[in-house]
Amino acid sequence: MRRELAENLYEEETGGLQRGRPHAELFLEYPRGLGMDLARFGAIELFPAARRFRDVLGRFCTGVTVVTSMSGGRPVGMACQSFTSVSLDPPLVLFCPAKTSRAWPQMQRAGHFCVNLLSHDQLELSDAFARKGADKFAGVSWLPSATGAPLLDGVLGWVDCTIYAVHEAGDHYVVIGRVMDLGVEEAPHPLLFYKGQYARTQ
Ligand SMILES: Cc1cc2nc3c(=O)[nH]c(=O)nc-3n(C[C@H](O)[C@H](O)[C@H](O)COP(=O)(O)O)c2cc1C
Repeated sequence: MRRELAENLYEEETGGLQRGRPHAELFLEYPRGLGMDLARFGAIELFPAARRFRDVLGRFCTGVTVVTSMSGGRPVGMACQSFTSVSLDPPLVLFCPAKTSRAWPQMQRAGHFCVNLLSHDQLELSDAFARKGADKFAGVSWLPSATGAPLLDGVLGWVDCTIYAVHEAGDHYVVIGRVMDLGVEEAPHPLLFYKGQYARTQ
């Protein structure tokens, strides 16, 4: 039933976003609250409204980061595009881990994290940190940041944080970090993510 309604709404919209139409309508039957991770196992394809959300938001090009921390003396991390600055005074940034993330609860226990801004030749590194369960740090060179989180070699820059606030937001958390230290390296270009794929500036 939910699926049918979502499809009907999508068909009405296939001509593109129509002027003057309240777009809230499009999301009236959005598959919220199903208690499942739509982005996994291809489930997103069952819900055209969710697919459309992804397609439109995917047009917003971002950089790529690896967010790291320590857990019981072992490094943990995850690839993350949902990173942005929030406040200058105090200096705050945010990232959004999925509720299904295994690394996030470990970061939360540690109370700190380091955001590593990837350069354009670190695509494989991003892929390694996007895999669940794997030994993500195998063969990866890093040094401890000021908070003790892994600062990866070859990054464009890093932002080292303690956890300032955590907000629940749908199937993700919004994690706000208080910046404790940050810096830049000499890597020339950023790694980008656009329309669900990696991209480079040159
Ligand atoms: C380019 C890129 C960006 C990503 N951005 C995010 C993100 O912002 N939030 C998130 O929860 N997962 C994001 N992911 C997916 C996670 O990296 C992936 O689910 C990872 O396996 C989580 O690992 P964990 O379960 O060990 O935490 C991204 C993956 C890629 C390739």
